Amino acid sequence: MTSPKQIQLENIAESDYEIFALLKQRYSPRTFKDVRVKKQHLNQLFEAARWSPSCNNIQPWRFIYAEKNSEAYQNIISCLSDFNKEWVVNAPLLMITAYEKKTEDHKDNFHALHDLGLAIGNMTTQAQYMGIAMHQMAGLDWQQAEKLFNVPENYHITSAIALGYYGGELDKLSPELQKAELKERQRIDQSQFAFMDSWKTIKHDDD
Ligand SMILES: Cc1cc2nc3c(=O)[nH]c(=O)nc-3n(C[C@H](O)[C@H](O)[C@H](O)COP(=O)(O)O)c2cc1C
Repeated sequence: MTSPKQIQLENIAESDYEIFALLKQRYSPRTFKDVRVKKQHLNQLFEAARWSPSCNNIQPWRFIYAEKNSEAYQNIISCLSDFNKEWVVNAPLLMITAYEKKTEDHKDNFHALHDLGLAIGNMTTQAQYMGIAMHQMAGLDWQQAEKLFNVPENYHITSAIALGYYGGELDKLSPELQKAELKERQRIDQSQFAFMDSWKTIKHDDD
């Protein structure tokens, strides 16, 4: 049996350049320690989101969270894709995320999605500092979630997040997901996304 600590060590990013340890250590697990997330810790995570920068300081991010064994937790699960439903039950806490679509003067807030992502990014790093993992999910029926959670028309549900302290046993996962949990982590090279002076069209092997 691969111990949770060993899995965490194996998932440390092999970065090409030295980066902040918390960024190297973060990954998106499918198992979590079977322990309730402390209220104080949850407040610290939302505080990290709260102090994120945002366009015109609009702070368009919104979160709905629910603890395991609650009706709201089951409601979040009911909106997830079958693939996510398979492992997400290991998380003691689930969230759905949303952003406010319009500015005060009723214009489209083009940067709202950007700002939500930034807030989640900050929350993720704060979470890592506290030994908490956040696994984000696009695989959800956002229309169903908007109905179930009475989301006002001016907001758009974007993603779900499974959250809990790192840990949990691999054998809670199917053999395929166990493999995925231990798979080598990969990233595209910096040269494929950071361009000096002008846009560079990258030729892919299959072009
Ligand atoms: C916006 C977003 C949506 C994602 N959707 C899913 C999802 O529906 N199901 C899933 O298992 N993982 C999902 N992930 C996790 C990614 O697959 C994961 O972040 C990526 O493979 C890199 O792995 P790492 O986070 O462990 O570094 C999502 C991540 C993000 C940021």
